[in-house]
Amino acid sequence: MKYHIITHGCQMNEHDSERIAFLLEEMGYEPTAQRDDADFILMNTCLVRENAELKVYGQLGALKPWHDEREGRILAVSGCMMQTGPAQETIQKKYPQVDLVFGTQNIQKLPELIARHRATGERVFDTTPVEEDLAAQYRKADHQFAYVNIMTGCNNFCTYCIVPFARGRESSRRAIDVVREVERLAADGTKEIMLLGQNVNSYRDEDVDFPALLARVAEVPGVERVRFMSSHPKDLSDALIQVMASHPNVERHFHLPLQSGSNAVLKAMNRKYTREQYLDRVRALRAAMPEIALSTDIIVGFPGETEEDHRETLELCREVEFDAAFTFIYSPRPGTVAAKRVDQFVDAQTTARRFQELLDVLYPIFARKNHEAIGQEVRVLVEGISKNDPHRVSGRDAQNRLVHFPGDERLIGQMAPVKITEAGSFALVGEPLFETSTLSAKR
Ligand code: SAH
Ligand code: SF4
Ligand code: F3S
Repeated sequence: MKYHIITHGCQMNEHDSERIAFLLEEMGYEPTAQRDDADFILMNTCLVRENAELKVYGQLGALKPWHDEREGRILAVSGCMMQTGPAQETIQKKYPQVDLVFGTQNIQKLPELIARHRATGERVFDTTPVEEDLAAQYRKADHQFAYVNIMTGCNNFCTYCIVPFARGRESSRRAIDVVREVERLAADGTKEIMLLGQNVNSYRDEDVDFPALLARVAEVPGVERVRFMSSHPKDLSDALIQVMASHPNVERHFHLPLQSGSNAVLKAMNRKYTREQYLDRVRALRAAMPEIALSTDIIVGFPGETEEDHRETLELCREVEFDAAFTFIYSPRPGTVAAKRVDQFVDAQTTARRFQELLDVLYPIFARKNHEAIGQEVRVLVEGISKNDPHRVSGRDAQNRLVHFPGDERLIGQMAPVKITEAGSFALVGEPLFETSTLSAKR
């Protein structure tokens, strides 16, 4: 029996897919990269923007022939989209090929749901939350990189965002459980840990806040690099900056979603910080760690965004000089506050122009900053063979920059010293600063 998982959305979903894969493997399923070979296909969905949803429906339609071709094949759908009634109803009515639906808060019930479907042959829709065992650990020893959940949910209710409706309220995992999981992963050979939560900065387990947890994780023997995602600028404390600065194995990269450079828009978004406060945090980060790379998220065309608001976003981007950015066109999400401001929606043509103007500001800065990296010596955790060149491998350095350099599969999972020799807008090219003959085989 073979399974195949299609994941949409963010790292939380990627990590959920890993947990689902683990459950399936415990049931005797084996992974396959070929959809046609699979007996079980799971689609883990995202609904953060409308096009994410449309993609899911398109792919489910395309999977009908696979499903109907052989008796016993199971098509399952999970993830954030399944946390809302309307999407479940659409699947119920229009996608009879879907056998199994579950949510983000009852993943651990999957074996039971599969058994129920097998026993009755009926479609099973179950998204009722179960008391999740946040102490539960799952094994994943064949990777040098691992996600570790530290909290779930979000309490911020940014007015454009549907995530709090899909993922529920914030709940922090116990610090001792997080640290134990990291210790076990490190003992198994994991070199890089990414701590996950919608807003890691508001983590709290009694007297352990996020800076304290980060310090504990960074001090676990064998952990060579710690990353974390995501942060909210309103909760970025000086204590966190101190912990980062004093732990060289914490990545020299901060993802700090800006969303907009206009105070009026930030207020309408319910972001709870001003452009001045954002700039203050950027300055504090750079004062403590001058080499730190900054990345961000920006939304263009939020309801009511004026030309002046847009200009302020461009100005702020010029001032901060981000190293990387995810840029989005505002997408109204049913049920959110902003989606009700229909009379203030920015027309598509204006949004498209503003989006292009934003890229025109951002991209030359990325290119220039990458160019400045030429000559630097960095440490790259190799993730795999480069997509466009079988004689190169690629991975990320401590500033989260994508680096390609000559090498083969023996390097996968290694932390490799590399000298940067070339730069593009989105990636760097380097040469290895080591003898390939000294490499140990892949674990
Ligand atoms: N909790 C994380 C990630 C949220 S989703 C955080 O706060 O950083 C990732 C990004 O998607 C957000 O930062 C935002 O820029 C974007 N986004 C969320 N809802 C959106 C919407 N309705 N339209 C366009 N972009 C959106
Ligand atoms: Fe969405 Fe805001 Fe929560 Fe991020 S912090 S998940 S953008 S509501
Ligand atoms: Fe999407 Fe859910 Fe992540 S809506 S962005 S997969 S939390």
